[in-house]
Amino acid sequence: MKFLLTGGAGFIGQHVLRRLLARGHDVRVLDSLRPDVHTVAGWTPPADVELQVADVRDAPAVERALQGVDGVVHMAAKVGLGVNIGDLPDYASSNDVGTAVLLAAMARASVVRLTLASSMVAYGEGVGQCQEHGAVTPGPRTERALASGQFEPPCPQCGKPLSPALVLESAPLDPRNAYASSKVAQEFYAANWARVTGGTVAALRYHNVYGPGMPRDTPYAGVAAIFTSALRRGEAPMVFEDGGQRRDFVHVRDVAAATVLAAEKHVSGVRAFNVGSGTPRSVGEMATALALSLQGPRPIITGRYRLGDVRHITADSARLKTELGWRPEVEFSAGMAELAAA
Ligand code: UD1
Repeated sequence: MKFLLTGGAGFIGQHVLRRLLARGHDVRVLDSLRPDVHTVAGWTPPADVELQVADVRDAPAVERALQGVDGVVHMAAKVGLGVNIGDLPDYASSNDVGTAVLLAAMARASVVRLTLASSMVAYGEGVGQCQEHGAVTPGPRTERALASGQFEPPCPQCGKPLSPALVLESAPLDPRNAYASSKVAQEFYAANWARVTGGTVAALRYHNVYGPGMPRDTPYAGVAAIFTSALRRGEAPMVFEDGGQRRDFVHVRDVAAATVLAAEKHVSGVRAFNVGSGTPRSVGEMATALALSLQGPRPIITGRYRLGDVRHITADSARLKTELGWRPEVEFSAGMAELAAA
């Protein structure tokens, strides 16, 4: 098949590109190479890959990029949590407007297959299990609670502590920051487009993606990259909250494989797929694993917090396995050791 891959020069995009090529597809990349997202200036695509340097909001450029393609893998986005509220317009413009421009151009070009990079942050605080009230959705944590070191969100009904639960795709969407809101918006715009055009959408809700090529030393870098950079400077990883917050760190090659499977196999309707390794870890545990691999100082638990952060978010990726036949292959400690050595 011939795919248009937007954001193909990005961290996950480059791995998706490699995977698409390995599977024998033709790929055209559309990427703006904007400097706040790409730490390395300039990027040369592999041989046989056509690169069109343009922003996804540039309708004429998108139209040109869509010529002759069978499907689109849309990865181009401004990532991260956002530094402050001043980031809102850029998230809305880059991610919401960018996707809207792409979808309108796809409709004009009669391209009906879309694979969308979405995110687990769409679920907000996710799901917790209350002994009395079963599966509940915790509300946002207040600044007051966080400042006094109460990091665990309580049951919204009785206020008692919750035990961890895995989030299914059917969980309510509850975006808590600019980036999360833009990812939810992208999913809704894509669903609107599909209803009108008969198009198909696979929205891949990625968990915390790590691995070679992770952006470093930018305000938008993920925690694994931040810790690796600190350790390389001989500094201890600074762990926020009490380090007990859980994430599912999923390797970028597994994420790329999931994305390409969805692009190849998902051919009807609108479907979301969680993409996680299935083995949640605490951020403290991850910091320790990296410190050991890099033989650096032990992590420091700082008690600091970011208001937009969720406490725990861990996926159930059974749908991706049963419907598309995906299996994660990179085990956590091997993946972290690879990241440390990269
Ligand atoms: C990450 C991604 C987001 C993606 C989501 C999917 C980044 C920047 N964000 O969000 O794009 O949609 O996963 O689930 O890659 N932390 C520290 N010390 C630090 C920085 C962070 O302890 O110096 C903690 C945070 O408080 C948080 C955890 O690490 O609890 C993860 O933070 P981060 O890597 O920014 O990712 P998410 O917010 O989970």
